[in-house]
Amino acid sequence: MSMIVPVSRRQFVAGAGALAASSMFPRRMVPKSLWAASGAASQRVVIRADSEIGLVRPEFHGHFAEHLGSCVYGGLWVGKDSRIPNISGYRKQAVEYLKELGVPVLRWPGGCFADDYHWREGIGPAAKRPKRVNIHWGNYIEDGSFGTHEFIGLCRLLNAEPYLAGNVGSSTPHELRDWIEYCNFPSGSTLSDERAANGSPEPFHVRYWGVGNESWGCGGNMRPEEYARLYRDFAVYCRDFGGTELFLVASGPSGNDTRWSRGLMDGLGWERPQGVSMHYYTGGADRSTSFTVEHMNEQLASYAKVEEAIIHQRAVLDSYENGKKVGLILDEWGVWDNIPADDEKRYGKLWQQSTMRSAVAAGLGLNIFNRQADKLYMCNIAQMVNVLQSLLLTDGPEGEHCVRTTTYHAFALFKAHRSKTAVRIETEDSAPLGLSMSASKGQGELAISFVNPHHDSDLQVSCTLRGASAEGGKAQILHDADWNACNSFDSPDRVTPKPHPIQMSGSTIQVDLPRLSVVTAVVPIH
Ligand code: AHR
Repeated sequence: MSMIVPVSRRQFVAGAGALAASSMFPRRMVPKSLWAASGAASQRVVIRADSEIGLVRPEFHGHFAEHLGSCVYGGLWVGKDSRIPNISGYRKQAVEYLKELGVPVLRWPGGCFADDYHWREGIGPAAKRPKRVNIHWGNYIEDGSFGTHEFIGLCRLLNAEPYLAGNVGSSTPHELRDWIEYCNFPSGSTLSDERAANGSPEPFHVRYWGVGNESWGCGGNMRPEEYARLYRDFAVYCRDFGGTELFLVASGPSGNDTRWSRGLMDGLGWERPQGVSMHYYTGGADRSTSFTVEHMNEQLASYAKVEEAIIHQRAVLDSYENGKKVGLILDEWGVWDNIPADDEKRYGKLWQQSTMRSAVAAGLGLNIFNRQADKLYMCNIAQMVNVLQSLLLTDGPEGEHCVRTTTYHAFALFKAHRSKTAVRIETEDSAPLGLSMSASKGQGELAISFVNPHHDSDLQVSCTLRGASAEGGKAQILHDADWNACNSFDSPDRVTPKPHPIQMSGSTIQVDLPRLSVVTAVVPIH
């Protein structure tokens, strides 16, 4: 059930009681600039600080980096000898921006790439690593210089929890089991000693392990029962070396494919992975910077389907005795627009700009995760740099520029929710393209996020706060009336968060949301 609880106008007026009375919102407490006669539509909501959903796990803001285009090579990793400023080979500007944002978890090396990756080819002296063809993403040559040690090094720099995606499609239980031993066994075995000889005597303590990726597609083209059989074969040899308790993630459905999820759960029998990975991209018909209104609305409205999928997939897992404790992971999500060949040629495969539309999409997604906080374990945006809905863009693998995208800034606005407890919101609007909201409370503070996905109407939102009183507070807005506006290399800060006025007193909070905006308010409560 959606945590934005839609109610009819009649129920709402009765339930919200005083809220409905216009005297609750004396115009005199609102500066003219806020409630100008703009013709903006008004919305009333109730924020139920007394009705908790669940923890907003920082992992809802997780990331994914694949060996694809210029995500890893040229994006995150430029090599120690690069003229691009770097920290031991990692692009300095990217590291700084990502550190500032905070990266709770990072999944690597794929994606489709994971099921064609053999970890031994990415360890030891870089010069000796084999050169391999990246068969999924344009047949370019991988020199293996970014391997397990380099990935863990990046995670340590970013203070991110590493999440390794294991190869099931073209590998064996033996290979995955050995990778885990190499990473996690403290010392004394041949593999752990090899790790030490390669520069890391300390084990990597990797908890999160994907057992295959998209096994219904690029990861093996399997039927669910075939994959479930393989999952069992692999999982039985994955061990908690050195006391690092593993969290195994089985390959779950594409979108809301309940047939796959049921087939998987049926085939697992009593075997229980700790997580099931679902992928849900929201496709776009146009190039990212030239969306038509119709195509934008189509894409943004499809987020209602993402929320529905989370609810359905959770229900499927819960319908199995051994599925109740399985964490639902939205392992790959975000907008996947129409990418012109020219952009790919210039900047790398699946290189995609992020616009105000993308930021609104990010806000819709992040609001959903808060509202469905009790159903989700982790969500990883695809991808971190230069690929699909990325947080950072560089001007190709050789490019010195590195800009924060609108999506980066949308994520920054939602940071205030991390580790708080999501609470319910009652609204009279349940349209797929309606006002989107979420709220969370913690440590004397309430974080509220609003997304206005309309391209043609501003909204005036009046919130009644139940179960807490608010005093003061601040808000930030990300907004551009042009949905194709973006942060480019020439204009890197065109769309950035700005302070935004909100009005509050006791149990009422009022905010104006211009068309196409994402706003987060942080409000002290008692
Ligand atoms: O993120 C790009 C690709 O999308 C991934 O490699 C794959 O898992 C998914 O199909």
